Amino acid sequence: MLIVNPIEKIQGKISVPGDKSISHRAVMLSGISQGKSRIKGFLRGEDCLSTIACFRGLGIDIQEKNQEIHITGKGLHGLSEPKDILDAGNSGTTMRLLSGILAGQNFLSIITGDDSLKKRPMDRIANPLREMGAAIDGRCGGSLAPLVIRGGGLQGMDYTLPVPSAQVKSAVLLAGLYAEGYTIVREKSISRDHTERMLRFLGGNIKTQKGVITLKSSNLEGQEIEVPGDISSAAFFIAAAAAFEGAHLIVEKVGLNPTRTGIIDVLRDMGADIEFDRIHKSGGEEIGDIIVRGRKLLGTNIDETIIPRLIDEIPVIAVIAAVAEGKTTIRGAGELKVKESNRITAMVTELKKRGVDIKELPDGMEINGPNEIRGGVAESYQDHRIAMAMAICGLFAKEPIKIKDPECIAISFPEFEEKLKQISG
Ligand code: S3P
Repeated sequence: MLIVNPIEKIQGKISVPGDKSISHRAVMLSGISQGKSRIKGFLRGEDCLSTIACFRGLGIDIQEKNQEIHITGKGLHGLSEPKDILDAGNSGTTMRLLSGILAGQNFLSIITGDDSLKKRPMDRIANPLREMGAAIDGRCGGSLAPLVIRGGGLQGMDYTLPVPSAQVKSAVLLAGLYAEGYTIVREKSISRDHTERMLRFLGGNIKTQKGVITLKSSNLEGQEIEVPGDISSAAFFIAAAAAFEGAHLIVEKVGLNPTRTGIIDVLRDMGADIEFDRIHKSGGEEIGDIIVRGRKLLGTNIDETIIPRLIDEIPVIAVIAAVAEGKTTIRGAGELKVKESNRITAMVTELKKRGVDIKELPDGMEINGPNEIRGGVAESYQDHRIAMAMAICGLFAKEPIKIKDPECIAISFPEFEEKLKQISG
């Protein structure tokens, strides 16, 4: 159990661990680059460790030295057939992006995951990868993991994403590295673009224009990659500080890629006082400090146009909406139902138990605030973001909140509890 007590102040300067999305991509793309790569600020969360284990299984030498990850890339065609089943653990990003790479390999691989990952839809990547020429099978007619992939002989294609998903976009682009001709991906609402940026940084032949990404196979060169702090981890503390009257918090060296800053836009729309400082660029990604001063927030409307830019932050937004004044509506967020848990049902159930006026909608939720938050026991659904959102809820509650099965927090933020203590004095 993680026990979170109500607090009197939020104050301080903290850093957060490396960005999960960028850490995954750094390992994957370094493994298929030529020469050595060094990754600084890598997230040692369980999801990213699953990616390292999979690449070791594919014959890539990966060493941890002085807080850095050193990878000896073997080039686009240097991976070897894994002797055993690859295990993505709880990580959708590992399974979906890696499947794109495996689709390009002239060998057989089998990739599995934990109970949660085995329930998540894989047809969204398997279908386009099959269209490009890979043979992919899996449970339930080939739509669920374990996936069995025999790759090779791919053709580029022109693909319009049916779901706004960076994981699907990335799987197709990574397969495109192995395809003949051009691979074009079109997206209606822009999802996180770390794959495109890192491919460009490593010398890939990739162009983006107004939601149309065009890629042609080319060799990648190993590099030094600096992973910024994860805005999705920082979001828990930024949101808490923004809604906590009198708070003053600085989160240092956070990734400020505009495809990820939807949380800042929403908080500002709710009336939050948030500034960026010391902005610079590294490895194709914007990085900067985030300065937050707390005040009373107001409800807001969140619709499908911004959802891909804050998809992982909705659980904590629901908590902040519960203490904000007025109505908050979140729509167009159906994708939340197929994350590590059904995050709509999970948040509605847990916030209702805390006495919050909240209603589940088919593709989101409606919250009326402000609410007095009651203490008690909260479920985590073995989902890291639900566990952390309910911990933040505890900061605003009248009595302590006890979160069951909090071990899942180590998926993305092993130091969460320590940082929580740090900001609350
Ligand atoms: C991720 C993309 C998002 C996000 C996930 C990480 C990525 O998923 O929810 O935590 O690294 O590409 P979708 O792109 O499937 O929405």
